[in-house]
Amino acid sequence: MSLKRLYRHMNREIEQIDRFLSTRVHTDHPVIEAASKQLLDAGGKRIRPAFVLLSAGFGQAKDIRLTKVAASLELIHMASLVHDDVIDDATLRRGKPTVMERYDEQVAMYTGNTLFGEAIRLVSEVDSPRVMEIMADTMELICIGEINQIQDQYDWGQSPKRYLDRIARKTALLIETSCAAGAVVSGASPEVVKQLRLFGYDIGMAFQMTDDLLDFTAKSFQLGKPVGEDLKHGHKTLPLFYSAEDPEFFGRLQQVNQSSDYATTHTLVREVQRNGTLERSQRTIDRYVNRAIQRLDGLPDVPDKRSLIEIAEYIGKRKW
Ligand code: IPE
Ligand code: IPE
Ligand code: MG
Ligand code: MG
Ligand code: MG
Repeated sequence: MSLKRLYRHMNREIEQIDRFLSTRVHTDHPVIEAASKQLLDAGGKRIRPAFVLLSAGFGQAKDIRLTKVAASLELIHMASLVHDDVIDDATLRRGKPTVMERYDEQVAMYTGNTLFGEAIRLVSEVDSPRVMEIMADTMELICIGEINQIQDQYDWGQSPKRYLDRIARKTALLIETSCAAGAVVSGASPEVVKQLRLFGYDIGMAFQMTDDLLDFTAKSFQLGKPVGEDLKHGHKTLPLFYSAEDPEFFGRLQQVNQSSDYATTHTLVREVQRNGTLERSQRTIDRYVNRAIQRLDGLPDVPDKRSLIEIAEYIGKRKW
């Protein structure tokens, strides 16, 4: 099923969030304004706002506060994309040149910070100390995740735990927070919030593992961002952990560093594409997706529960 079809019940709400974002991505500085607007208009899956809306289906209240929380989560996500593209030296995002490519690193840094600032403003308007606290913790931990990633670059002997902790922070947490915040704002019970959090964590882990898999399998035009570059940039992702169980592969992986040429890294990428570790990674992703869906078992059978299950299944198989 396509994402468009999955969103069919909430098209109006997602459009409303988009319109709201356009009015709020607004600063007095023309360059920062243009850079943020470009990223917003380029689209994106809006998966975090979707999780906010669907999790709110387990509560009662559906008002402007929900739009604000959903919008703030997309802004935090967008800010982290702008910063991530500087770290990853990426030229393409959402099918358009990255802020860093079009302008420079400084503009990217301040564009990201401006988006974070607007996200905080929005959260403060929600007037919920609990949501404020959740968001602050999340932003702090995302930064820790991204900085860990820099420290771990080209450390080919790192433990799998290091990978799992890193992706938990840099990606799963924001999806977990989207589920938790939607449920809290809509007045769902603490038990429901807890289960949705666990769901969000598992599905967030699956989301990043799929992203890491797509780096080996997808085409740049499908994703709207560069592919095949994680290995070259020294990011040890799931398929590489599996591939490195072979001592011969591990030996060659250990030779890869900042100055390795494209031919060397490309040979390794081709090997990963053929050695069966992508299929094994897919099985791991499926386990996370299944566990996520099981987390919803005890929750009331509201209509949005079905959509959450469908989106979870989509995430495990997504090609974009
Ligand atoms: C990309 O996120 C960064 C990751 C956490 C993997 P998305 O795949 O949700 O990016 P957009 O919002 O659709 O562009
Ligand atoms: C996600 O990791 C980083 C963020 C949390 C922004 P990636 O570096 O793999 O994301 P993409 O592949 O560039 O979207
Ligand atoms: Mg990155
Ligand atoms: Mg990146
Ligand atoms: Mg990636």
